Amino acid sequence: PAPGWTARADAVVVGSGIAGLTAALELRTRVPRVLLVTKDRLVSGSTVWAQGGIAAALDPADSPEAHLRDTLVAGVGLCDPRAVEVLVTEGPARVRELVARGAVFDTEPDGTLSLTREGGHHADRVAHAGGDATGAEISRALVAQLAAVRADPGIEVIEHALVLDVLTAAPGRDGRPGPVCGVTLHVIGEGSRDGVGAVLAPAVVLATGGIGQVFRSSTNPVQATGDGLAAALRAGAAVGDVEFVQFHPTVLWLGAGVKGQLALISEAVRGEGAHLVDVDGHRFLTGVHPLAELAPRDVVAKAIVRQMARTGADHVLLDARHLGADRIRRRFPTIGARLAEHGLDLATDLVPVAPAQHYHSGGVVTDLVGRSTLPGLYAVGEVACTGVHGANRLASNSLLEGLVFAHRAAHDIAHRVETGALRPAEPVERPGPEALVAGAARSRVQRIATDGPGVLRSAAGLAAAERALAGIRTDAHRAVEGGERPVADPQVAEWETTNVHQVATVLTATAATRRETRGGHLRSDHPDRDDARWLVRVEATRTPDGE
Ligand code: SIN
Repeated sequence: PAPGWTARADAVVVGSGIAGLTAALELRTRVPRVLLVTKDRLVSGSTVWAQGGIAAALDPADSPEAHLRDTLVAGVGLCDPRAVEVLVTEGPARVRELVARGAVFDTEPDGTLSLTREGGHHADRVAHAGGDATGAEISRALVAQLAAVRADPGIEVIEHALVLDVLTAAPGRDGRPGPVCGVTLHVIGEGSRDGVGAVLAPAVVLATGGIGQVFRSSTNPVQATGDGLAAALRAGAAVGDVEFVQFHPTVLWLGAGVKGQLALISEAVRGEGAHLVDVDGHRFLTGVHPLAELAPRDVVAKAIVRQMARTGADHVLLDARHLGADRIRRRFPTIGARLAEHGLDLATDLVPVAPAQHYHSGGVVTDLVGRSTLPGLYAVGEVACTGVHGANRLASNSLLEGLVFAHRAAHDIAHRVETGALRPAEPVERPGPEALVAGAARSRVQRIATDGPGVLRSAAGLAAAERALAGIRTDAHRAVEGGERPVADPQVAEWETTNVHQVATVLTATAATRRETRGGHLRSDHPDRDDARWLVRVEATRTPDGE
């Protein structure tokens, strides 16, 4: 639909998690007009749900080199070492800035930051807040900073706005897409702006988070519909490592039929010493990896899946009873409250857990300052593929990545706006998706993605998913051609379902391409890692059916 209103800015940031808020705050220190768009309220999205913490070499006994080593091992050969080096060397300073911005982390009696350990780390380097409410505290502090500058006319915030498409100028003579010149938005509900509009800006920063809603269940909130990834694909940006979806090993299991956002039981619970046992009471990780329950996340998730197959159960059990009630209440108040809703207590009960979708390691391919393959389009945080995660993200590196790379992207944009390298341009009309997928198809897509490119994949399962997703696409085209559904006034549910469908499609295709098992990509028909053939990043610029 044609935009009903137009706003202009030097940079538009889409998303208000740690990456989006950091980008907006840093940009405003250097460019005159920043516009921040968020799909819900400012305090929403995945950051507020982050429990365990933020990893950085903050202890004098630790070092960026040791953090780099652990990150590379977790990424199973596919991290970009240059990106990891940036992450681990700049990380400590960025975390200290976060403290200076008002984020209150847990401390020891001597005032130093309290640091814990999570899977894959060989040192205590995970800073946390409120025991297990780290993301909520970071979000609070950054939103408070933003509120302090809200009176500033140089920063506009639009809440309840779904990003539809990335606008680009006319392609060059070589046929490559022209520079990015803004985004179209659908503003939902009341606000300063309403309906479909356009924000024109020479720099667009996607900070839209993850893809959890592609699956039947996930630790992600409802907003995580892969909007930034889908919009970047439609605009022609390259995406990479998409097949690497992280399934968190310990998500509260409440029965096979329970869907939607599930409760995370932080890896920090295992960091404090909890064990995993199968339904027969056997600890099964001790023989699998020297770090046992604190092995990298993919190793633990894989071992759980295998143990569940062995025992025929659809969950395993987390045993934290030996940690003692006092310690558990002090360290894990948020988890305690969630468990209490289901009559469970870490101090006295074995808690049923199973792996569920948690994080997308891949995303929009970027360089070390967040630039995508489209001029003027940046991606930061979970939506990005900076190369720091490779095949499997190290625990608590995600908040850090958002912080470090959003800071870098903001200063790169500011420099390019100041020097005129990024200039406003006029968008060309580019057809959006020809036919949006009906909102009612979302649960079908989720079922297909869960059974196909879910935690355990195979050629047959992926081929079936590909056919089913293509069928949904064909239905969408037929409905438009047959006049059943108008294309003129699509609603948010249709855009979101189209995005979820598009992400599921590219995920299925890339998972089918990688015929090996590595990190977050587990193939029952190719159970081994194959370094001779697959030590490469799989990239895509379009979904296979040309959407
Ligand atoms: C957790 O607390 O287990 C999640 C931390 C993360 O995803 O890095």
